[in-house]
Amino acid sequence: MNDRPLAIVILAAGEGKRMKSALPKVMHPVAGLPMIGWVLKAAEAMQPQTIITVIGPDAEDVRKTVHPYPAVVQETRNGTAGALRCALPLLQGFDGDVLVLLGDVPLITPHTLNALLASRHEDERTGLSVLGMRLDDPAGYGRLILDGRSKLLDIVEERDASAQQKSIHEVNTGAFCIDGTQLERWLGAVDNKNMQGEYYLTDLPAIAAQDGAIARACIAADAGELEGCNTPVELARLEGRAQNMLRMDLQHNGVMMTSPDTVFVQHDTKIAPGVMIEPNVIFGPGVEIESGSIIRGFSYLEGTKIGPGNVIGPYARLRPGSVLGADVRIGNFVEIKKSTLGARSKINHLAYVGDCIMAEDVNFSAGAITVNYDGFQKHETIIGKGVMVGSNVNLVAPLTIDDGAFIAAGSTITEDVPADALSIGRGGPAEIRKGWAAEYRKRKKALLQKLAKSRK
Ligand code: UD1
Ligand code: CA
Repeated sequence: MNDRPLAIVILAAGEGKRMKSALPKVMHPVAGLPMIGWVLKAAEAMQPQTIITVIGPDAEDVRKTVHPYPAVVQETRNGTAGALRCALPLLQGFDGDVLVLLGDVPLITPHTLNALLASRHEDERTGLSVLGMRLDDPAGYGRLILDGRSKLLDIVEERDASAQQKSIHEVNTGAFCIDGTQLERWLGAVDNKNMQGEYYLTDLPAIAAQDGAIARACIAADAGELEGCNTPVELARLEGRAQNMLRMDLQHNGVMMTSPDTVFVQHDTKIAPGVMIEPNVIFGPGVEIESGSIIRGFSYLEGTKIGPGNVIGPYARLRPGSVLGADVRIGNFVEIKKSTLGARSKINHLAYVGDCIMAEDVNFSAGAITVNYDGFQKHETIIGKGVMVGSNVNLVAPLTIDDGAFIAAGSTITEDVPADALSIGRGGPAEIRKGWAAEYRKRKKALLQKLAKSRK
């Protein structure tokens, strides 16, 4: 390995017209993380001296995402070489390697970047190295004009390529490693005499060669991780790749999935070894699951911490701000939002628990809900240890139910309940009318018969 200092520049100023979206292209998420966030993670893993991102005008969200690393604005989008020029003022006096990455190639790995760096230092005369890949269908990418195995003569963009050049399968991934002492001079020689009238970074290999340096191509082993994203179709393909990668990582870490292809995870999903995930489970951002838990099918979880030994679902919905203790049971058609649940508490069917602090060993029966919203504000429900909430109960917040209390089925509770008390709130006992049902059926049948006769 070489020990030259490294600076990384990420090009992310393009509008992404082909995405047909109002969001800057690099802000589109892959497994919940904006593309630029993925590139930044790979860049950080290289431990460079600096990471500079070139952003478009009005791209404050991109600037925030790369913070605290510096961002420079490319006022006019005049091509990838134009973008790299914008970073030069921050590279004054830098004489190490400059690694250029594209903001729309998110799944690139440090392993591959190390191979690119190594090829740049293959010999003394190599002034720059370009990361290439071999594609069955190279459409849309710049083609590498190679001399032998790795010497690179030129890169020709598809629009500028002859029919013969278009048949080349080795393409430019967009990642370059360039001798920092030559960068400014070589960039100065790039012109915009091409079909798009842009300053192409892809002109650099030919310029370096004219200057007596050698340009090389480093052809990556895994083309998949180097696919770029220009369209919604390509974004979906990258999402599929990222999903596969993340699920594999989880499985290698001991997470069990019977049907991994049907489980959707996020870049930050944390699942302990031994956890079992049934088919058709969706994780939104911010989920953590401790060991010994089972997530049953068709559950949707986001922003939730799940303690050890839980059984969640099937068909559970856990929303942001939920924290579940050990051995909790959440059954079908239960929604939990911004609530803390104590150990061994059970909410087994058809319930809504929002803005609630629930202690241990609570039983929350079918059809019971917290009434947490008054049309203007949210209110809290506090439920003590070992409380039994019967079926079809409305707990109108703000409300406190002390330890060990019972809430009778069918109640609407608006007053706090003391410890170990029974609270019944059904608006009085049910009225009983003897014989009413039999009488009703007789009347109804007679009426229907009369109607049927009159139609004949
Ligand atoms: C580019 C390469 C192509 C390569 C492909 C790999 C050039 C001229 N072409 O094509 O050889 O095969 O990537 O995916 O380099 N950008 C700016 N400022 C600009 C223009 C672009 O910052 O003025 C940024 C974009 O945000 C994007 C990246 O550079 O992240 C690439 O730009 P894009 O327009 O997507 O280039 P491609 O046509 O994909
Ligand atoms: Ca692109």
